Parts: sequence; C-alpha cells; structure tokens
Amino acid sequence: MNFQAPKGTFDWMPPRSETVLAVRDALAGPARRAGYGYVETPAFEDTGLFSRGVGESTDIVTKEMYTFTSRGGQSLTLRPEGTASVVRAVIEHGLYGGPLPIKLWYSGSFFRYERAQAGRYRHFSQVGAEALGAEDPALDAELIVLAMDGYASLGLRHVRLLLNSLGCRECRPAYRAALQDFLRALDLDEATRQRIEINPLRVLDDKRPEVRAQLAGAPLVTDHLCGACKAYHEEVRGLLAAADVPYEDDPRLVRGLDYYTRTTFEFVHDGLGAQSAVGGGGRYDGLSEMIGGPQLPGVGWALGVDRTVLALEAEGLLAEPAGRVDVFAVPLGEEARRRIFPLVAALRRAGLAVDMAFGGRGVKGAMKAADRSGARYAVILGDRDIEAGAVQVKDLTTADQTAVPLTEVVDVLKGRLS
Ligand code: HAM
Repeated sequence: MNFQAPKGTFDWMPPRSETVLAVRDALAGPARRAGYGYVETPAFEDTGLFSRGVGESTDIVTKEMYTFTSRGGQSLTLRPEGTASVVRAVIEHGLYGGPLPIKLWYSGSFFRYERAQAGRYRHFSQVGAEALGAEDPALDAELIVLAMDGYASLGLRHVRLLLNSLGCRECRPAYRAALQDFLRALDLDEATRQRIEINPLRVLDDKRPEVRAQLAGAPLVTDHLCGACKAYHEEVRGLLAAADVPYEDDPRLVRGLDYYTRTTFEFVHDGLGAQSAVGGGGRYDGLSEMIGGPQLPGVGWALGVDRTVLALEAEGLLAEPAGRVDVFAVPLGEEARRRIFPLVAALRRAGLAVDMAFGGRGVKGAMKAADRSGARYAVILGDRDIEAGAVQVKDLTTADQTAVPLTEVVDVLKGRLS
C-alpha cells in the first residue's frame, strides 16, 4: 500500500518549508507589535458554532465542512475559519468584562472541503487577528495597515487592497430588498434563483460570465448605506489614506462568510490566477450575539500563509535556501565518533548550529554530507588527532585546514563565526 497525502492537501518540505515559517512570522509580526496577544483554540468545535456563526447558507457551511460525530455522539467540525472560534473563546472566558478592545492573533490549520486547485486546498494555513469590543474606525484601519505592513515586510510589492462596506442592521435590509428586486428580473438558473431569496449578496460573487454580464447594473451597497455607516466608512478610508495605504473601492466585494457588517476588505495578488485573495476580513458586529454571546462588536482578518508563499514565488522572492548549520562534524572511525559526539553537544550548547555525519559512511560520504549541509566549517577527528588531543578545523569555502586543540575548539569556532 502506497499512502499519499489526501487530495487537496500537501506537505511543505525543506527547504521550501522554511519560507512557510518565515511567512507566518512576518504576517503576525506587525499585529504582535501592536499589542495583539496570542490565542490558540481547538482545531475542532461544536458544529453549531460554525453553522450559526459563518452562516447556514454559505458554501462553507452547506458544502465544505469536515463534520463528524464524536464517539460521545456530539457533532463536531474541523474549523473552516478562526473568527467564530476566537469569539467563542472570548465569550467563554468572559474577556468582554475586562479592558476593551480585546486584541488577539492566531496561526494554524484550517479545513474546507473545496474543489482542489492551485492555491485552493482542503487543508491550509492562516495567520489571523481579531479586535473585539470597540466600534471604532481606527481599529478597522489599524488592522488593515498591520496586514499591509506584514505583506510589505516580506518584500511583496503587488498586493492590492480592495475595500467595501456592507452596511449594518439598519441599512442592509433595504439594500437586500433592492438587490433582490433587481436579481429576480434576471434570467438565472433555479439554484441561483433560490440563492436570491436566501443570500442575495452571494449572487454578486457569481463567477460565471453569463451571470456576470447580467449583473452590470446591479444596485451597489455603497449607494444604500445609512448615514452612520457612510460616516464610518469615510473615516476608515481617511485613516488609510493618512497612513499611506492605497486602497481600491470595490462596492461589489462580497465575502464568503455571512457575519460581516460595515467594513469588509480583501488583499489580492495578481500573480496567482483565479485564487487571487491572499487575505481578507472585516467587521462582524453581530457575530457574538449570533452564537449566544453578549453584544460585542469586532473586526479582524485572516491571511493565507500558503497563498502568500505562492505570491512570493510569483514575485521571484523565494529566498535561496540558507545553510542549515554553521559547523559539520566528521568522525573518522568509531572511537572518533564517541569523542566527537560530546564536542558536537558542547558546540550546540555554545549557541552554534551544528550537525554531524551519521551512519558510518566513510570519509568521502561524510565530506559530501558536510558540503551539502551548507556549513562553513568541518570539524574532522581522526586517530592521529585523538592522540594529539586536537581536531582538524576545515574552512569549507577555502579548503584551509588547521589543527586546533580539543579544549579550544569551541572558543575558536565561536570566534570565527561571530
Ligand atoms: P477567508 O476569506 O475565508 O476569511 O479566508 C482568509 C484567507 O485564507 C483567504 O484570503 C485565503 O488567502 C486563505 N484561504 C481561504 N481558503 C483557502 C483554501 N481553501 N486554500 C488556501 N487558502 C485559503 C476568513 O477565514 C475569515 N475568518 C477572516 C476574518 C477574520 N474575518 C474577520 N476576522
């Protein structure tokens, strides 16, 4: 039996996997420096959390959830996104009773049973940030700036920000009705007609050319915002401009999750083909109540780690794999292996990155391994060196080799590598 990673999943292997770690750090860095604390929630939750939080009529809930019954008979679902979990955790731990806003960031695996294609996976990784308990346009703008700074810190130059407002409880119903009136008059298939009644905004996101062509004159949400939503949106736009973050107004931007109110945004990269969104988010002022919590406004984003790696690749920014270690130890024989082993441990404890030859492959194989490791120095120990109480330190870039007393080798290498 030959096992393979399940369809829609894949392995990140060295050296490319190093980029994944770097991307996670870079995307989370600005949020961490802005006072967001780390939160880790379970990879599965009560199914109801997502069906209520993300929305019964969304693709995620109707088609894409990995749902299973636990041995105890409970319906559980592998998390398709992080926001509902974070809000659940904030409610469960009563954080809304403390200082506001509550600022949290997370990083981890998410699961959606999607049609697998380039950039769209069934298991993927996100870095997310959420701020709860304040309805302040500066918080929306802060999050957007932090995400843009994260992309910029990776050297990405072609991430565009699309910005929209989806209105609130007050103005959304009137817009929804106007949109439904417009959509009902179109020539659409039965499934789409049903969608008009349940979730008309999603129809705006239909990618089929024959549908798109008919949507040209659809009413725009930004023309239907109430005074408060309009003012809020203007404030967000002003703050972004003040922070030198360019954005594109996109009144047709709808998101795949139902909890959004007011500010919504997406970060897109043009080098990625159909799956161009490298991140997205927005405000979700009603989510807490939808899952049984108190009134607790919130705003946040999630940035796709896998797609960000693809964006780096598209811009030619994948770094050359750096050497894994600084020093590679080569024992010539069994006695030498016994003696070099504690030396390797001592070098590592002194803070150096060190590997050694394993498996008794002989000098040639061991020296090849030393070259492949990317190490600057090889430390070679043979019988004669043992007698002399020394090791050979070879500079692998110049091939210069010197004998160094065993008692001094840690200090000598530390000095040469500092
Ligand atoms: P989302 O737009 O569904 O939002 O996902 C955010 C990002 O995750 C996407 O822009 C994309 O980069 C990545 N992503 C999503 N699905 C896949 C997939 N199947 N394969 C690869 N990458 C994927 C959310 O998840 C919201 N929770 C964001 C948010 C946070 N809103 C408010 N707070």
